[in-house]
Amino acid sequence: MNKILCGDAAEALKTLPPESVDMCVTSPPYYGLRDYGEIGQIGIEQTPDEYIARLVKVFDEVYRVLKKDGTLWLNIGDSYAGSGKGPMTLAKGGKNESVFDMQNRVYEVPKKWSGIKPKDLIGIPWMLAFALRERGWYLRSDIIWHKKNCLPESAKDRPTKCHEYIFLLSKSSKYYFDYKAIQEPLKEVSKARYKRGRSDHSKYTGQELQQNINRQHKDFSEFDQEFRRKRDVWEVSTNTYKMDEHFAMFPERLIEPCILAGSAVGGVVLDPFFGSGTTGAVAKRLNREYIGIDLNARYCEKAKARIDKVLTETA
Ligand SMILES: C[S@@+](CC[C@H](N)C(=O)[O-])C[C@H]1O[C@@H](n2cnc3c(N)ncnc32)[C@H](O)[C@@H]1O
Repeated sequence: MNKILCGDAAEALKTLPPESVDMCVTSPPYYGLRDYGEIGQIGIEQTPDEYIARLVKVFDEVYRVLKKDGTLWLNIGDSYAGSGKGPMTLAKGGKNESVFDMQNRVYEVPKKWSGIKPKDLIGIPWMLAFALRERGWYLRSDIIWHKKNCLPESAKDRPTKCHEYIFLLSKSSKYYFDYKAIQEPLKEVSKARYKRGRSDHSKYTGQELQQNINRQHKDFSEFDQEFRRKRDVWEVSTNTYKMDEHFAMFPERLIEPCILAGSAVGGVVLDPFFGSGTTGAVAKRLNREYIGIDLNARYCEKAKARIDKVLTETA
């Protein structure tokens, strides 16, 4: 397997056979955030609805190529209307419907954006999640990626944003999910609590307490007494951007649990927005196969070189 297809995600996916990949982990270009300088790129549509419609087309194809028990791990962040980075029209003067960006330029939210005002948080992640659910995906988890080292923001009228989403979606109601591969070690204090039953201040006493302990021991097998299920808030630092690299790279640590839980050794991991090839590099390190797609030929070359390096290091 192991291949990089250079081209538009929706088109390139059509060349893959149905039900041929085990899982997909990906991060599409965010709405109105940056210009990747390619004709046909996603992220610079005139309205959020047009952006969502393009992504839905890509994920319809992902759905087709995923095995029946496959999962999609979709990392996506939100955008503000009128942030100055998106496809707003540069306004002539400051009218009601306008907003200033950091360079003090005035932007207007196009009239087509019904119901969204300048400064509004658009809600892109949930727009996409609901659209995919409509298309048949099971929406299983909204994992919060907490970025401890997030960039400071200039806004003084709201908290600084330091999280993004990773939605876990599945093709079927029952799907491959190796929870043991991503369990977290239990703290000593929690282990002691499970052994004891509830806390010392538990409202249960005597027979009730014993029943409670018995029930807990049944629920928590021996294996689970050392571990707990992975929680849905993941604290992972962002990569610091180096000039010659891709500037929206996944941190490797962010997608390791997705690949470990979503595929067995030897499984095929797909990323239709491959960028610098982080998914391929992590997949190979964890002994999986990969398929990457990106519109930008330069990124495809860089991704290939990066994965080759991993292969020589692990040979
Ligand atoms: C957020 S980045 C992905 C970064 C990647 N996760 C990494 O770790 O490097 C999004 C990528 O989507 C690519 N892209 C934009 N429009 C595309 C399209 N229509 N088809 C395929 N790739 C596209 C961009 O070139 C960019 O590399």
